[in-house]
Amino acid sequence: MPVISFANAKGGAGKTTAALLLATEVAARGKRVTIFDADPQKWISKWHELPRTCKGISVVNQISPASITEQITQASETSDYVIVDLEGTENLIVANALSVSDLVVIPIQGSSMDARGGAKILTLIKKLEKIVRQDIRHCVVLTRSNAAVTTRAMKAVQDFLSAQNIDVMMTPIVERAAFRDLFEFGGGLANLDPKMVSGVEKARENASLYAAEVLERAISAPKKRWYNVFRRAS
Ligand SMILES: Nc1ncnc2c1ncn2[C@@H]1O[C@H](COP(=O)(O)OP(=O)(O)OP(=O)(O)O)[C@@H](O)[C@H]1O
Ligand SMILES: [Mg+2]
Repeated sequence: MPVISFANAKGGAGKTTAALLLATEVAARGKRVTIFDADPQKWISKWHELPRTCKGISVVNQISPASITEQITQASETSDYVIVDLEGTENLIVANALSVSDLVVIPIQGSSMDARGGAKILTLIKKLEKIVRQDIRHCVVLTRSNAAVTTRAMKAVQDFLSAQNIDVMMTPIVERAAFRDLFEFGGGLANLDPKMVSGVEKARENASLYAAEVLERAISAPKKRWYNVFRRAS
């Protein structure tokens, strides 16, 4: 079933947060999810080890450049969704994961540095599309946006993306304490106590709209043929 990867060559763009939000939303709808944790910080693996768990989610963190495409392809046969959280760089794991993704989500914060990191991934996708001779569907999600106002930096990033005809999701991921707190308390947003974490209701609404938009794209994307771009071990 669909493979959705999160990539931005710039660190700290919000990939891990966006990947976990999607995984927990999908699992809350009763689906089986496999997350590939290719982030060297292993935040999702640490989250998975917390006492409060999320039913239906399994996490794989033993990954190599040579094995990742096969691992992803196998997982996609047994899971309803495969979600890949990638490192904030360009390497063989990133290239191989993108080459077998049905959808690549590029999280971009409202900063020109993030937009440049996103542009690197867009260029890499173009190169990979030539190698695998298939389109790799991709979109941008704006992250850590301000709930109340659109900052000048965010507006500049939006203009930059729309000038290049890039598919930008309607729903940005807003800056919310609840999204950070998932990594501390474990589980999904449904498990967070509104008395302990502020803005939980708003966070749930935001995550649900965001996940619906990602899933709509992932489900309508044509299924990928298996392909291993680079077999060189790290
Ligand atoms: N929507 C959000 N609301 C609040 N905090 C956020 C949000 N998105 C990200 N953060 C915070 O920003 C920091 C970076 O986010 P995250 O780890 O998701 O980025 P990343 O792209 O995966 O980083 P890396 O490249 O290091 O893997 C973290 O401290 C995270 O808690
Ligand atoms: Mg990360």
